[in-house]
Amino acid sequence: MNTELQKYIESTSSYFEEKYSSTPTLVAYAPGRINIIGEHTDYNLGLSMPAAINRWVIVCLRLRSDQRISVISQNYHNKLEYELGQPFEPAASWEKYTYGSITIFGNQYPINQGFDAVIWGNVPIGSGVSSSAAMEVALMNALRAAFAPDLDDLALVKLCQRVEHEYLKVNSGLLDQYASQFSRVGKLMILDFNQLSSEYVDADMKDWTWILADSKVKRELAGSKYSERVRETAAALEEIKNKESGVQGFRDITEEHLALISDPIQQKRIRHLVLENQRVLAAAEALSQKNFEELGKLITASHFSLRDDYEVSCPELDFLVDSATQLPYCAGSRMMGGGFGGCTISLVRKDSVLKFGNFLTDEYAREYDIVTEINNYQLVDGAGSYQS
Ligand code: GLA
Repeated sequence: MNTELQKYIESTSSYFEEKYSSTPTLVAYAPGRINIIGEHTDYNLGLSMPAAINRWVIVCLRLRSDQRISVISQNYHNKLEYELGQPFEPAASWEKYTYGSITIFGNQYPINQGFDAVIWGNVPIGSGVSSSAAMEVALMNALRAAFAPDLDDLALVKLCQRVEHEYLKVNSGLLDQYASQFSRVGKLMILDFNQLSSEYVDADMKDWTWILADSKVKRELAGSKYSERVRETAAALEEIKNKESGVQGFRDITEEHLALISDPIQQKRIRHLVLENQRVLAAAEALSQKNFEELGKLITASHFSLRDDYEVSCPELDFLVDSATQLPYCAGSRMMGGGFGGCTISLVRKDSVLKFGNFLTDEYAREYDIVTEINNYQLVDGAGSYQS
């Protein structure tokens, strides 16, 4: 196991002992993720290229002999408690994720015993690296280990997605949860949301590395235009289908079909989707040939498409991308994740990482008076659990 993760598990475990005066009997963990390319493609059954990072949510749990559920958030120093089967109204968002995960799991696989649990995490919140998915996936892995060992990984991530849909009211796709569960150390995944399958590719970038820059603009997916985008592309697909185009699903759509979409906005959304899927395939090819200049160009093209056609960027993200792409040692840069804030991801020469970080930090502070945070994550294995 990753030694950094092990250290965090030990400290979460000690916190559990301190709070509940007993040791946890099982531990589950799930990482956050980055996404190289393929954004806003998941709920449109397209392609993406994510990987899990060395930031985690950890759950330590011990079954009780009664029906009481007690969960402490170590980060928020807060406790959620209720009796199984009794009504409970989650208020804070960590409570929605927690209660939502327990309830959705419990509706499918009976939870016949209460438990004590501690949740801790260091996945940055609101930065576009999927802290919420890490939380759902860690909790579901803990619940599976306790109550339903036969539940398979794919069914597990779909339960997590339902938490987003039903408790957070965000119609998100499966990118975050899938990456958090299925990633492998040192690999990127080429993920096909139509097949719900993935292929692992070598993430060795030779002289290059991935650098994240946090705009510190917090995005609230629920309050954002996310659901509007989900509706727009679904409506466009319906229109194309109804025009006897032979198209049956998103993946049948090609550039020739764009003219069938009467709403120019929807046309732009679908153009992003079609071209972004092509870019993921081209990026996989560039990666396999270690052609990092080409890969960088595809990354930046993805940003322009997200900015102009999908309209999910914001001035701060555009500024970070424009600043990064001026630099000779940056091959490409783009916004990452849902957008409207969060991080950019850039492909930077390893020998210039420090220079890159300093440049971006200075430029961003000058323009927005905000201190960005620069991160260079390791790619780690997906979620897991064990009896302790
Ligand atoms: C958020 C959502 C994902 C995905 C990305 C955009 O992270 O949770 O499902 O749609 O945005 O690619």
